[in-house]
Amino acid sequence: MLKIAVLISGGGTNLQSIIDSIENNYLNCCIECVICDKAGAFGIDRAKKHDIKTFVIDKKEHGVALSDKILEIVNEKVDLIVLAGFLSILKGDILKRFHNKIINIHPSLIPSFCGKGMYGIKVHERALEYGVKITGCTVHFVDEGTDTGSIIIQKAVKVLEDDTPETLQKRVLEQEHKALSEAIKLISEGRVKIEGRKIKIV
Ligand code: GAR
Repeated sequence: MLKIAVLISGGGTNLQSIIDSIENNYLNCCIECVICDKAGAFGIDRAKKHDIKTFVIDKKEHGVALSDKILEIVNEKVDLIVLAGFLSILKGDILKRFHNKIINIHPSLIPSFCGKGMYGIKVHERALEYGVKITGCTVHFVDEGTDTGSIIIQKAVKVLEDDTPETLQKRVLEQEHKALSEAIKLISEGRVKIEGRKIKIV
């Protein structure tokens, strides 16, 4: 069974979607731990409610050592790291040790509205300002760049004329929850083949 660590920074609805997918037997995997970079985040309560081990590695306290602290926790214990609304950037050894074993969910169709400083509601504000007619979400592998790794799954969402950043975020989130579980399932079934920077689902 695939063992995963889920990394979060906030409310944890994506974490909740993974928990639900495991509990309703869509996913055959096990959450070994939830790691949060922000004390007091609601996602920690969600994990505790389901008896999942939690660690808080506060970003402000640990600074550049954050990635190494996380590596200490997950090393040799998990097969896959899932960034589910995790807003710190992982750096250093963890990227080598978990090469092609870290995935991230981003609330846009990469390569639009992504990269440094693009997260959460800001992504939807930029999409609306730009006037795109379609946005969505992307699950991708994590590499040394920010949101630059190979794309596993994307889901499209139509932008409506009266959308606000909040209404758009809500509809994109619904698709994120599906996309993230689907990606984990594909990986757990060995169906994700990496060919250069392209990914084939077999
Ligand atoms: C999600 O929309 C996720 O895609 C986004 O943060 C939100 C977290 O929500 N992540 C990023 O913007 C990363 N660049 P959640 O805590 O309810 O899962």
